[in-house]
Amino acid sequence: MRVPGVLVEIPWIIRDRAVEYTEAAYKNGRLSDGELTNRFERLIALAHTPKGMPAVEAVAVSSATTGLAAVFQVLAARLRANDPTYVPGVSSVIVPTNTFVASAAAPLAAGFRVTLADSCPVTGNLTKNALAEVVAKDPAAKAVVYVPIGGSLSPEIEQVRDFCVGSGLDLIIDAAHARAVQQIRTPGKSYADPTRVTSVGTNYRMSEAQAALGLAYAEEWPSVLAERTRVWRNYLYYLKRLSDAEIYPVIPSAFSTANHYKITVRLPPAVPKEAFIAALENASFVGTAGGTFDVPLHEQPALKGHPLVTAASDMAGADEWRRRHVCLPIYLSMREEQVAHVCESVITTVKKLTTERK
Ligand SMILES: Cc1ncc(COP(=O)(O)O)c(C=O)c1O
Repeated sequence: MRVPGVLVEIPWIIRDRAVEYTEAAYKNGRLSDGELTNRFERLIALAHTPKGMPAVEAVAVSSATTGLAAVFQVLAARLRANDPTYVPGVSSVIVPTNTFVASAAAPLAAGFRVTLADSCPVTGNLTKNALAEVVAKDPAAKAVVYVPIGGSLSPEIEQVRDFCVGSGLDLIIDAAHARAVQQIRTPGKSYADPTRVTSVGTNYRMSEAQAALGLAYAEEWPSVLAERTRVWRNYLYYLKRLSDAEIYPVIPSAFSTANHYKITVRLPPAVPKEAFIAALENASFVGTAGGTFDVPLHEQPALKGHPLVTAASDMAGADEWRRRHVCLPIYLSMREEQVAHVCESVITTVKKLTTERK
């Protein structure tokens, strides 16, 4: 049995609806800021408004990178106006080292320094203790980026949030892996008269064609999530049933609804990850998905030695996470026997590599 590491699937119901919506957008002649984007924004805002709370605002942007860029431009403008201690190129943003480069590139582009914080070796997330250690060393910090790794928020987020509130730091969630974010509109246009541009801004808006797919997905989200959860449960069952090889799935906490974007396992410390991935592919025809993340920011050539980027510690936690975590295949159409095959192959491969090294 062959199981590819990654398979991008768009279920037919979503495909059909997205095509129908795109046609409507082309007929209307509105390629951005049209009805589809508005509907998408309303749906997302509704999904993220807690019961009994005032409605949140959702603003659709063209990518997570542009969303982050907008947030940090707004933060810099707000600090310039209100905080006499803010100094461009001196004031900093704390970013976990275990993330994608955009999480650090956005604050750098907005004129902040970046201080990298270590990550938890077991979950890959930023922890309150790591954050407190960095803040003690970096009094110029103004904000913290939190990245929910692999599609769920860890319970630590509450401690991180309380710490940020107590320390007067803004908390920005880079939720590229997990829907849970409020975004900010910065095209610079006046709301009263959209032909008047009242501040210099950048248009990061989502196009109507993107919104067509986003809307179709958002409308079908409960059934997509149910399918992913089914695959995830199968993984838990087979890993538990078979495991006597010290393989531990990274369990999303009940604190948030995980989207199961990733299914991540931790290898025993003695098993070399590269050899494991190669053996899994060659002997069992099982591919793996990209890690979250395989190269932390303190090892990225663009950031290592960057004059505005400092690593706050030795990053031992993030290094262990990088060395030991592997993301297994997970996609909507994945059958139970495929999951069973992946789990059996993972366990056989780990045992084989463990024996070889003894
Ligand atoms: C944590 C994180 N932030 C931001 C991004 C950037 O996302 P986009 O490709 O939508 O700009 C990614 C992409 O992988 C990511 O993993």
